[in-house]
Amino acid sequence: LWTPGNIIEDAIRAVREQVGGDGVVLGLSGGVDSSVTAALLARAIGDQLTCVFVDNGLLRLGEAEQVMATFARHMGVRVVHVDAEARFLAALAGVTDPEEKRRRIGNLFVEVFEEEAAKLEGVRWLAQGTIYPDVIESAGARTGKAKVIKSHHNVGGLPERMRLGLVEPLRELFKDEVRRIGLELGLPHDMVYRHPFPGPGLGVRILGEVRKPYADILRRADHIFIEELRAADLYDRVSQAFAVFLPVRSVGVTGDGRRYAHVIALRAVETVDFMTARWAELPYAFLDQVARRIMNEIPEVARVVYDISGKPPATIEWE
Ligand code: XMP
Repeated sequence: LWTPGNIIEDAIRAVREQVGGDGVVLGLSGGVDSSVTAALLARAIGDQLTCVFVDNGLLRLGEAEQVMATFARHMGVRVVHVDAEARFLAALAGVTDPEEKRRRIGNLFVEVFEEEAAKLEGVRWLAQGTIYPDVIESAGARTGKAKVIKSHHNVGGLPERMRLGLVEPLRELFKDEVRRIGLELGLPHDMVYRHPFPGPGLGVRILGEVRKPYADILRRADHIFIEELRAADLYDRVSQAFAVFLPVRSVGVTGDGRRYAHVIALRAVETVDFMTARWAELPYAFLDQVARRIMNEIPEVARVVYDISGKPPATIEWE
């Protein structure tokens, strides 16, 4: 019988049998899959688990604090919080090509994770939040972005280099099953039903060169958009929504004069499989409210636009 409780019990038994008394390391991203894996392993093996959370400086507003609060404070999981913002920004300085940005972010992530994992004693296993669709995807011949996604999320090559065995307790589960298990394990609803967030994070939502001030502006704008979506009960009705930072300047007027500042694009899509998508027909009054708040609260933004491009031909992300 498929119930979240049964699946959890089976998974716990299997993990305990697999790892015995060894230590396990997990790269925690704050996404659904790694979060559910962390919660499951915490229940199965307690303090044999160490999570490594790499803060690349390209996360959403308050995300690092939220991950630490949920896992370290509430669930008592040991989480190593690595503040690697400066390293990521340095690696991205002067880089404008989207694929090169992805490559650098992915490589540095693996490097930082590996450094931290190497410091841990008694670790024999690497846990990953691989789910069934990932297994199928890796089996089929895919090119381009899909491959990049895999290599980023699954810390490619690391298990062999570090001589770690793999623990993948969600390998046979679909996304909706993973979510139900997450809820059963006590993870917050908002975390379990969060929109997908790309591994390279805000790195691919700041067009062109990534700079810290741009990331800070984007974080604030994105937060306003998401906050308003939740307040209007629209968050769960779109598949993915986010803000994009355009490093161009546009003229505007304010009470005390002229403003010459940046542009924020809002993107919201409806999709089943993320392979094709329609732009979400959000109410005009709602968009108006979001745009006003962004321009009022963030002086560095002079204009807000809404993206009405479908996929194809546009992709969901701007880079
Ligand atoms: P696109 O932009 O290709 O996005 O239409 C489809 C879905 O994939 C996500 N995405 C990524 N996820 N690493 C990831 O982990 C990436 O490099 C990446 N690029 C796109 C995107 O957010 C959307 O959900």
